[in-house]
Amino acid sequence: MQDRATFRLNRFPVAALLLLFCVLPWLGAEVVDENTPVPPVGALGGPERELTPAELEKWKNGRLLFDRDWTLSEGMGTPELNADSCRGCHSDPVIGGSGGLDLNVFRYGRDEGGAGPFTNLPGGQVASKIRRPDFPLRDEVHPDADVFEQRQTPIVFGLGMIDLIPESEILANEDPFDSNNDGIRGRAHMIDIASGGQEVGRFGWKNVLPQIGDFIHDALGGETGLTAPDNGRGFVLLTDDDGVADPEITAAQFDDMLFYCSHLCPPPRVGNTDPAVAVGEALFTSIGCAACHIPSLEGADGPLFLYSDLLLHDIHPAGFRGMVQGDAGVGEYRTGQLWGLRLSAPYLHDGSATTIEDAILRHDDEALSARQGYENLSASDVEALLLFLSDL
Ligand code: HEC
Ligand code: HEC
Repeated sequence: MQDRATFRLNRFPVAALLLLFCVLPWLGAEVVDENTPVPPVGALGGPERELTPAELEKWKNGRLLFDRDWTLSEGMGTPELNADSCRGCHSDPVIGGSGGLDLNVFRYGRDEGGAGPFTNLPGGQVASKIRRPDFPLRDEVHPDADVFEQRQTPIVFGLGMIDLIPESEILANEDPFDSNNDGIRGRAHMIDIASGGQEVGRFGWKNVLPQIGDFIHDALGGETGLTAPDNGRGFVLLTDDDGVADPEITAAQFDDMLFYCSHLCPPPRVGNTDPAVAVGEALFTSIGCAACHIPSLEGADGPLFLYSDLLLHDIHPAGFRGMVQGDAGVGEYRTGQLWGLRLSAPYLHDGSATTIEDAILRHDDEALSARQGYENLSASDVEALLLFLSDL
């Protein structure tokens, strides 16, 4: 369902101005300083291993930068932006977490009223929420746009460990032509790197970026409007139009943010000892959820229980309308990682599923038989499955 009313907001200068003055402060003040304790290793928002004293300094600096409310004189804005800090969206329930519906990022394009094909309009897909007050306001959404999509803020926890999963481990589960006839066609999203070659995309709802550092570059530019030094990979905003000398953040600042983001531990399991959790886990496999939400992939130091194959699948019903990004088609999204599911409601790429059960009932196409398996469960089995999912 498209939220046109919300989009109109972006086209309305007064509303944009209000957003500038109301939303920025509302996004909240910084939540950490040099003295904020570091959560224990393995705890939510803490590092994934013991860090050396030097590494701990870097981690804390990175956390400060992730939290920092950037200012106009530091170059925030391209001149458009979505928020003044990373934490402005990634903060629930702790810094590095997810974000509510009100923080969703908006995309638009044209698909001829659903008849297709999808085309990008001049100016790109993203409608920024805010424009610097020292630049004239303008319409954000192209007048020819007829398809809109929201994107919900995912958690950043555990992403550094996903970064280290060998490509061969992800590619081994591809089955783009459904050669085993199970109705499921998973495929990797191969992304061109500026310095040459292609890598497996694994970050973003449509697997558009291969490395976590690429996403940080992309977010610095796209969300906060900060330029950064070139690393030759091609996902960084090198220059903008805001009158502040580029790059606006230094290579050392980028390194610290990268260190922090890639050393956040995966969300810890709740550890509920109710025997129904194990029953739910067995059902998860037997009704076919685990065909895409593969319980673990082999990381650099052993198995990572992320419950995703990190491949693109289409689980949306016929007639679904949304964005094409790179090689990822309209209905194709990365299999949702289920670790930390209890922390990231609402669900699906656009946050349109309020509960875990809603998200399951929205599965169609490649996931139709798994959804039917769910619909045929007894009430106590449904309870066990949901108990298992809320333990992740
Ligand atoms: C306006 C809200 C917002 C702000 C501000 C924001 N993000 Fe995000 N972040 C998102 C959304 C939405 C996505 C999913 C994007 C997509 O796939 O379309 C995302 C995705 C990510 C991911 C990939 C997660 C995954 O599971 O693949 C990383 C890493 C990330 N953001 C880091 C950052 C950093 C670093 C900053 C600050 C420079 C930042 N974000 C600022 C909303 C935000
Ligand atoms: C064919 C592959 C496939 C199968 C089978 C499948 N899923 Fe999914 N699942 C996905 C994809 C792809 C998404 C992301 C879709 C989106 O965001 O639009 C997803 C998203 C989810 C989400 C939301 C995650 C989030 O963070 O928003 C939950 C919960 C979920 N699946 C549970 C299940 C359960 C339970 C089953 C079994 C009944 C199941 N899935 C079967 C591919 C699959």
